[in-house]
Amino acid sequence: VIEIDLNRGGLAAQWRIDPCGVLYELAALHPGAPARLRLGDQTLLLFQDSLAAEHVAHASVNSYRKHFGGFRQFFGDSRITRDGERWRASRARSQPAIAAAKPLEVAEVTRRIFTDTAGALLAKNSITLLDEHLDHAAGRVIAQVMLGFEPDEISATLAQDFRVLLRHASMTTWNVSGAVQLHDPVLRDDFDRTRLRLRDGLTAAVRRHTSTGTLPVLLDRLMAASDDLDSFAEVCALLFAGFDTTAAALGWALWLLAGAGSLQDRLRDEVSTRLTPRSAAAELLACDELNAFIAEALRIFPPIPILSRIATEADRIGDVPVNSGQKVLVSVIGLHHDRRWFPDPRKVSLARFPRGELPAELRGHYLPFGLGQRACPGGRIASAELSAALATLLHAARFERLSDAPLAFEWLASLRRAGGQHLKVRPTGGAMSCA
Ligand code: HEM
Repeated sequence: VIEIDLNRGGLAAQWRIDPCGVLYELAALHPGAPARLRLGDQTLLLFQDSLAAEHVAHASVNSYRKHFGGFRQFFGDSRITRDGERWRASRARSQPAIAAAKPLEVAEVTRRIFTDTAGALLAKNSITLLDEHLDHAAGRVIAQVMLGFEPDEISATLAQDFRVLLRHASMTTWNVSGAVQLHDPVLRDDFDRTRLRLRDGLTAAVRRHTSTGTLPVLLDRLMAASDDLDSFAEVCALLFAGFDTTAAALGWALWLLAGAGSLQDRLRDEVSTRLTPRSAAAELLACDELNAFIAEALRIFPPIPILSRIATEADRIGDVPVNSGQKVLVSVIGLHHDRRWFPDPRKVSLARFPRGELPAELRGHYLPFGLGQRACPGGRIASAELSAALATLLHAARFERLSDAPLAFEWLASLRRAGGQHLKVRPTGGAMSCA
């Protein structure tokens, strides 16, 4: 077990600014090895191998509960943060609607919305910060798919509002007890006011749709009175889990393609032979090379970079003893960048995912959507959205990097590029209307 002191020294400084950068370094230096991280007066166990992931998230799932630190305030008491019976009760409210979402319909909604996005990016006619466009579009997709209405009905600035809440949550999360606690009254005030405004927006949307008899089934189930359910937290957690991850993945995918002109052209060719204003949504989902590339983008930059848990009883993971109450992190970055399974792990290689599928021998080593009973229920929705969104964007626009500035990460909830994804966007002549 590698011992790492995150209270002092160079790595400690880096951890405070860019914990994901540290995870990438650990994966490169000690592939697959477990580490004991000392942070404040706590010791976190970090695992980077598939057996540990399987143990924590599947085989011994009842010995570990979710751990969110300061993010708990953000996600509230919801399906994402609960455990045991309370999680099962939450899950039962949203699962039927998530399971009922049809990939072809998701692709159709995505194509419509991302056609607008391509238009907005091209209207800027030069260098663009992609993140806000991708956040907005992915927020529209998840709201349309899950609720059947635009997110503007809750808040005209939903994606930005979530980021305000996140900034406050992230301020406290990596400062576990014993380490410096940061209190920023301005951020706290923004957090409280934004939460209140979102709550009012949701209440008004529910009232409006109830009065017109158009309340979506999911909202009806989530808003049904119960002493033990925070409806607001459930709706926010679902919308947020649905858009922040997919927007982050799209940003990374476009950044990778912007640095690989010939791959971008190859994927654009694949997409353009299938995409016409009248082509069926199924065509958007059937581009094997594009799907292999999306799998690679999720591998290289997993939007959820760790699975975070607390042991509820003493346990042992491989040779490593685990105390009751100990924090256990499974580094998805560590798994995806283990060169024994993914040689030259920072390089895009479509051959790793023949026909866009994960080969059987890599099962357990590739976990962008987690695993076990707490795995992402939105994987099918996300996959359809990512394929349709990238197909639509690539058909309309060419993406280029500004420079090869070094990578730094921002990790508020999903893994993002520090400072955002700034790319040049030019027309390809393939933009089209999807009326
Ligand atoms: C690229 C997109 C996405 C990625 C990479 C992703 C990844 C993940 C991961 C890794 C987890 C498990 C976390 C853990 O075990 O600690 C998770 C959970 C979850 N995701 Fe996603 N997700 C994505 C999209 C979505 C979408 C579109 C939805 C909405 C339908 C969604 C809803 C959820 C929910 C509700 C949970 C909590 C499940 C539970 O504990 O019951 N996700 N996601």
